[in-house]
Amino acid sequence: MNSVIENIRKQFPYLENTGGMVYFDSAATSQKPQSVIDLLTESLVGANANVHRAIYGTAVKATNLYEQGREAVRTFIGAAAREEIVFTSGTTASINLLANIFGERFINAGDEILISEGEHHSNMVPWMQVCARKGAKLRYIPIDNNGQWDLDAAEAVLKEGKVKIVSAAHISNVLGLVNPIEELAALAHKYDAKVHFDGAQGIVHEGVDVNKVGCDFYSFSGHKIYASTGIGVLYGRRELLEQLPPWMGGGEMVDTVTYEKATWAELPLKLEAGTPNFIAGASLAPAIEFAALTRDPQVKEYEKQMVEYLREELNRIEGLRTVGDGPNKIPLFSFYVEGVHHSDIATLMDKMNVAVRSGQMCAEPLIRKFGQTGLVRASLAPYNTLEECGHFIKSLRRAVGMLR
Ligand code: ALA
Repeated sequence: MNSVIENIRKQFPYLENTGGMVYFDSAATSQKPQSVIDLLTESLVGANANVHRAIYGTAVKATNLYEQGREAVRTFIGAAAREEIVFTSGTTASINLLANIFGERFINAGDEILISEGEHHSNMVPWMQVCARKGAKLRYIPIDNNGQWDLDAAEAVLKEGKVKIVSAAHISNVLGLVNPIEELAALAHKYDAKVHFDGAQGIVHEGVDVNKVGCDFYSFSGHKIYASTGIGVLYGRRELLEQLPPWMGGGEMVDTVTYEKATWAELPLKLEAGTPNFIAGASLAPAIEFAALTRDPQVKEYEKQMVEYLREELNRIEGLRTVGDGPNKIPLFSFYVEGVHHSDIATLMDKMNVAVRSGQMCAEPLIRKFGQTGLVRASLAPYNTLEECGHFIKSLRRAVGMLR
């Protein structure tokens, strides 16, 4: 382990407190650095008052911390204004919000929505629901056996001129490949469709510059990028968000209310009814500060070494097949072993102090496409080490040997 990674590890008390447990489930949720834990504690102790509602000191402090979280997100993704950063409870809530308000305003009978075959249920089911409600049709960008998008097929669908919005993962939580989102955004716009990317994994491993990518919408969760659970982001271009109706009604999303009717608050509050998870929102500021540090070339180089090591060692295990391969691979490997059940592997790995996810990974159609009922997934973060990769491979070999 080099000193940069050692310094990163030191910031994560979880890693000290779990008796050497190898945590390879960061795609499900990341561990939290001390700076985030401190912010959460300090907020609960010294700044716990509802936001945007009162003028006494603690309320102003809480509001400022919450808005600093929003500003950190704005600069991190290159958004033009705070109005473009809508807080939700997570990626799922962001996509449901978008699907509902975009669907309400822009989707009509006969229209089409284009997603990829590799989507998480969160970026599939909400669009299915809109299609069912509006009489629209859900179309799919095919993916090949390595998990890569077929952009020619996507263009063929777009050319028909019925697609109103394209929605796809920046990085799939199963395949771990960085998708060509700039190309897809350009294609969507060429045929007058809007484009949204599910950045739940992408924001962590690649980050995003929404201007460079040219997307209209982008979603992600706080808890995967080192912040608290219970906070998420829907980025939207302001001119589009202005045209969309609110979804949930309630406190703070209104301008004036009479017994007869209501008018709406300005963005982003128009889309943020009710008391938000303001402490989690505030935790985005230190979380993003930490995430920015992980873009260090030395961290990236170490990550590349872990990817190469795992790719090579996994492929050496007899009967093991990984899904999702290509040069654009993040440290996330999903696989199955012929003749062995995925949950048996994960159970034995747990006994050997290795935490991995197993099952359908909330992407059942994709898993079925690979002819499986479930997979095992190892997903890493910059606090993981080559030594841990070695322990993982050794434990996996032992588990497979016991189960065959
Ligand atoms: N979407 C998260 C995962 O892939 C929960 O594990």
